[in-house]
This record gives sequence, structure tokens and C-alpha cells, in this order.
Amino acid sequence: MPVTYDQGKKLFKLDTPNSTYIIGVLDKEQFVTHLYYGKYIPDMDLSYLFTPIINSLPSKKEGQRVAFMDAIPLEYPTYGIGDFRDHCLEVESSKGHHACSLSYESHRIYQGKPKIPALPATFAGEKECTTLELSCRDHILNLNIVLRYSVYEDLDVITKSVIVVNQAATPIYLKRILSGCLEFFGWDYDIVTLHGSWARECQFYRVPVTANKVITDSNRGESSAQSSPMMAILSKDANEDHGEVYGMNLVYSGNFYGCVEGHHNLGTRAVMGIHPGSFSWKLNAGEAFYAPELVCVYSAEGLGQMTRTFHDLYRKHLIRSPYKEKERPILVNNWEATYFDFDEKKLLELAGEARECGIEMLVLDDGWFGERTRDDRGLGDWTVNEEKLKGGLGKLSSDINALGMKFGLWIEPEMVNPNSRLFRAHPDWAIQIPGRACTLSRTQLVLDWSRKEVRDGVYDQIKKVLDHANVEYIKWDMNRHLTELGSFGLAADQQQELSHRYVLGVYEIMQRLITDFPNLLYENCSSGGGRFDPGVLYYSPQIWTSDDSDAIERIRIQAGTSLCYPLSTMGAHVSAVPNHQTGRITPMETRGIIALFGTFGYELDITKLSEEEKAIIKDQTARYHKYHHIVRDGDLYRISDVFHPGDDACWSVVSKDKKEALLAYVQIQSRPGSQVFKKKIRWKGLDPDALYEIAEHIYDQEHARIPYAEDENDREEKLVLSGAVLMNAGIWMKHSFADYTAQLIYIRKYDG
Ligand code: GLA
Repeated sequence: MPVTYDQGKKLFKLDTPNSTYIIGVLDKEQFVTHLYYGKYIPDMDLSYLFTPIINSLPSKKEGQRVAFMDAIPLEYPTYGIGDFRDHCLEVESSKGHHACSLSYESHRIYQGKPKIPALPATFAGEKECTTLELSCRDHILNLNIVLRYSVYEDLDVITKSVIVVNQAATPIYLKRILSGCLEFFGWDYDIVTLHGSWARECQFYRVPVTANKVITDSNRGESSAQSSPMMAILSKDANEDHGEVYGMNLVYSGNFYGCVEGHHNLGTRAVMGIHPGSFSWKLNAGEAFYAPELVCVYSAEGLGQMTRTFHDLYRKHLIRSPYKEKERPILVNNWEATYFDFDEKKLLELAGEARECGIEMLVLDDGWFGERTRDDRGLGDWTVNEEKLKGGLGKLSSDINALGMKFGLWIEPEMVNPNSRLFRAHPDWAIQIPGRACTLSRTQLVLDWSRKEVRDGVYDQIKKVLDHANVEYIKWDMNRHLTELGSFGLAADQQQELSHRYVLGVYEIMQRLITDFPNLLYENCSSGGGRFDPGVLYYSPQIWTSDDSDAIERIRIQAGTSLCYPLSTMGAHVSAVPNHQTGRITPMETRGIIALFGTFGYELDITKLSEEEKAIIKDQTARYHKYHHIVRDGDLYRISDVFHPGDDACWSVVSKDKKEALLAYVQIQSRPGSQVFKKKIRWKGLDPDALYEIAEHIYDQEHARIPYAEDENDREEKLVLSGAVLMNAGIWMKHSFADYTAQLIYIRKYDG
């Protein structure tokens, strides 16, 4: 049984295949305490561990508590009753007081996993998941607080979510409602978080737990490029393949807050949820508030296993798109090829050349609508610009289809330029504080999607476009953060609800779009990976990972992004050199190999390429058809420290049945000094007992440096080695006499 209850001791035990989580209800006040989270254990009664804690429980004497609360590990800590650590819930009563206390009342255990109204969440069938609901109460405020835990049967995943119901006769204000808390004993842990900026997303940071709080957060209105809504708590000895890791990832696309605190009682507490900084929620009598879902992953085999569990969870239990298990078309996006400078002739030329190279879809990026000749105008006016595209999108899409290509389209529905028909007609539709200057970013403002009429006004325009052209893919962009938070639709005491209501509005329109156009392929984007989070993946199976398309930069960015998110979700394109973001010149093959480990595509003007480059593209597109299923459905193994690549970087994807595997090796710098001018790598994740043949080894032949026999390559091509040999003794990489060269090795099980 994944969830068991010991009535006598009031203990709940939650088991996944390799982990156990124990909750205990203690003391007369029925505090919901945390007893254990870690490797699977058959036993349930760990209350002996809590003797010192139970002894320090602030039991009541003559109606008063006799001690503070901050020595007790709690499941859902609240503000104002003597727990001075970071907390999950703060409530302002109708009288202006802020204290809140949780007492267990009852529970429910059932098969399956309920949806969270208006919010994205992982889903599971009756046989895949068991849910425990702990119903708690604050008796003074008359609040019902439901702590919901869903326990996956086949993955080491427990999800948490929270519902607060106001059962009093007067409104209360939620000042903070986080989604969950994990408690640890001692400070012997490290914290992993992901941070960055535009074009430098998801850089990996690891710091120790100390007496300071380590906070990862976003107050930008979206999950952001600056911080990602994930944290991992690691045992000190944890590395890629060993040690304990607890991953936390919030299924939410707005402002979030994560905090890990080594506190004075020598424990560690990690909390995560909606950012309390720009949040307050008026909960009227009888109303309920649902906090977003927090995913908790346990791994006893290092960060690598944490990654693979997240990938399995999201591929199977979060992404809903019909494309999730289908081959995605290889696309060429015209953004870096033309920017705003295109007409239908140019696009058809691009599509024609692309078709010749094996590309299957042309995506028309920014600039096709309104007066959009530059980025300071037109956003909000979703009607085609016929000066650029004569005959409109219906004609363009059918002309592109006639070339044998699909057609995709860019939109940025949440935004408006002041220089647009929409803004001139409805200046109050933008988020703003009357009388205060608005901050423009990329000369645009954010539409107030907390208001239904604003959402409808934009959606109706976009639906019309999609009804009249054969669009098979949508790139949904979002290119600025939220500032001057004010809405004409909200009362003064509800203005602080705007950020969350905005996110709910975005989810509503995304849901409407996929309901009205269920067969489209959706890709999200926010100036690259500025809104790369599980919330978005519920609606869109892929997200543009970064506006930095430089292959070498992409190693780190894709490594950080794939720490939690599957490779099949990461938009990755081959772009032109010198690269538009870094000026770096890398070989076309290297760009192709790195982009292969995402959703493969192109972002360059193919009409300007040499015949030799076009021939490489033909090989690359053919290779994608051969190998896409391994990347999309397989298990990722990081072989070198791809988060901080030095001279080289190496990773592999192994198919679930371990019959096939792909390995990428990038030589970032060519360095002399080794006797054999070579690097040996040890594969991971293979079947040790199986024989594998090296069926394809792609490398830069022009620069390959072979120190010994000329025929050495031939010998290597025919190698058949056991998984045990490949993983323990390893294999040689070719040494290339140049920087930025890459190799791709494909192996498959050998049956003689
Ligand atoms: C953002 C996206 C780019 C491109 C431009 C168009 O920066 O990340 O890929 O679509 O907008 O304006």
C-alpha cells in the first residue's frame, strides 16, 4: 500500500518504489509533524526519533503554550505562533491579526489524483497514484486547511498541494500560502538552484546550507530567466550518480519563492510556493483558495536519477499534447534569418530551400501583423500586414503547403505596444497604476489578463487568424516582465491579487487555445527560456530554451534546463555563424549535434548557405529521423560536468529498453599533452551484459588527428563491446585538431 495509517500512533506512511515519507500527528493540539523522508524503509514507527522533540512540544498549561514551536519539524508551518523559521501560511483575520495554527482533524486516502481547479498539475490514473488528504483546522479563524499528498506508484515522486477554505462568516486575507515544506535534520546538505539572465538561462549553482537563508525567487510576473522554480537539497556526498537528492519543482509560471534555511535548532527547512512579496488574496466567506502543486522527487542515486525521475514524470504525467510521443516536424524559424525584414517572396524562397534540405515546417516569427515593421509598434493588432504578405496568411500557408512544407506562426498575445490600434482603443487594458509612469520594456506593456474582457478581446482576434489559415504550429511568446501592478478590474483591497490572477488568465487562454485547436503543435517562449516551467509544459510540449543559439553556450543552458525538464521539451535550433549572440564561429556539425538533443530545428537563412553547408543539413535532418525517438523517450546520463564544461563536455541518452544509445562529445578546446591525443569516456546507463556495436560515429574528419595506424578508424568502426566494458573500461574519443568540434556515437545491441 503506498499510503498506510497507524491509527493508534497517528502515523501516516507514504511509500514510492524507493522512498518513504512519514507524517505524525502529535500532542493534544494535533500538530502535523514531519518524521522522515528518505530511502524506502519497511518500518513505520519512527516516533522514538522524536523523543527529544516530543519532550520539547509546547503543550498547553492552563490554556497557554509553555514553549516556542521552532524546534519541531512541521508539515505545514504557519506564522505567528512561535515558529520563527520560514513558514508556509500567513493569514490576516478580519480584525487585522496575523496568527494561524494548524490542528489535524481528519483524513482521507483514495486512489488517483484530483485536478486543481484553474491550475496545471501532474495527472495520474486510479492505479498510478494514491492521494492522502489531511484536513486541518484553525479553530479561532474557522479555516479549513487541506494538505494534499499524491504518491506515485512507479516513480519516486510525491506531489503536494494545499487548499484553504474560509468557513467563517467574514473575509480573511491570505498573505502567504506556499505549496509545501520539507524538513531535514542537521545542516549537512547542499542546495542546487538554477539562475541566469536573458540568453544565459538555467546556470547551475551549488551552495552549502548555512545559518543564512538561501532564497531562489522571481517577482517578475513569470517564472523567469533569472531563477527557475526548482531547488534540490543534496547530501554533502551527493554527486551525479551517488548520494541523496530531494528535488522540488513548482508547477507554476508566475512569481515564486523558494527558501532553504539552516535554522538555529540545527535543522534545515525548505519551503516553496507563490511569492508572498507581491501577493495577497481576499478569501470571502465560503470561498476556497488552491495553491499550485509542488513536485518532490527523491533520489538515492544522485542528481542523475533525480533528473530521470523528473523527465519520466513530466513526459508521462504532465504533458498532454498529442505530440508528446510523436515525431515533431523539423522546423526552420525565420527570426534570425530575416528579423522584421521579409515579404511572402522571401518566405517562400526560404521554405523552398528548406524543403530541399529535409526541413518540414516554416515558422513565421514576429512581424507579420498590424504595423509591425519594428518592435515598437503593432503588438495587440492580430491582423495580417498585407503590405508585407500580399494575399494574407491563408494564401501564404497554402503556398507553403504547396511546397510540401507545414506552416507555423508566432504570437505574443499577452502584450501591447502603446503604438497600436488596440492600445488606442483600450488604454485601460494595460497593467498600470493611474497617475504613475509605466515602465516600457521593448517598447511594450502587459495586457491585464486578470480581466475577462481583455483576454476575450485578444483571443477572438487570434482565433480568427487560426480559423483562416492552415497553421499547424504556434510559438507563444512573452517578452517582458510585469511592473506598476495595477488593474482597473480590481478593488483596492484586491490589487495584490493581480500577479496570480494574471497567471490564471494566461492558463485559461492557453487551455482555450488547445481546446479549440487540439491538433496544433505548441511551443512556448519568453525571450527564450524566461518562462520554462512545469506549468507551461501542461499546455505546451516544448519551450524555446534560450535566445542564445550559440552551440557552445547551449551546452550549459540545455544542461541546466534538462536538470528537471525532458530533452523533448527544449527548443534547440542550428543557427548561423558568426553566432548572433556571441559572435562565435562553430562548425555546422557541432551545431547540429548539440541541437539534436532538444526539439530539432533551424534558425538561419538557408538561401545564403553554400552547397556544402546544405549537404550537411540534409545529413542532419536524415539523422534526426533516425534518432529522434531516443532523445525524446530515452534516459539522460550526464557523463562529464556539463553544467561547467571545461575543455570538453559529454552526455548520453539511452533508450528505455537499453537497446540503443546516443552519445555526444564536444571538444570545446583542443589541448595537446596527452600521449595518445585522445580522451577516454566511460558510458553510463547501458545493460552491462549486452553486446553493443558502434553503428555510427560522426566526427570532424577534416580535423581528426590520428596518431597511430592509419587504419585505426576502420578498426574502431567495427567494434563490438559489452555494456560492462563500455561503462567501465570506456572508449576513446577521436582527438580533433580544432576547437568546438563534436562527435556523435550511436550504439545498438548486437545480435551477431
Ligand atoms: C523573443 C523570442 C525570439 C523571437 C523574438 C521576436 O525574443 O525569444 O525567439 O521570437 O522575440 O520578437
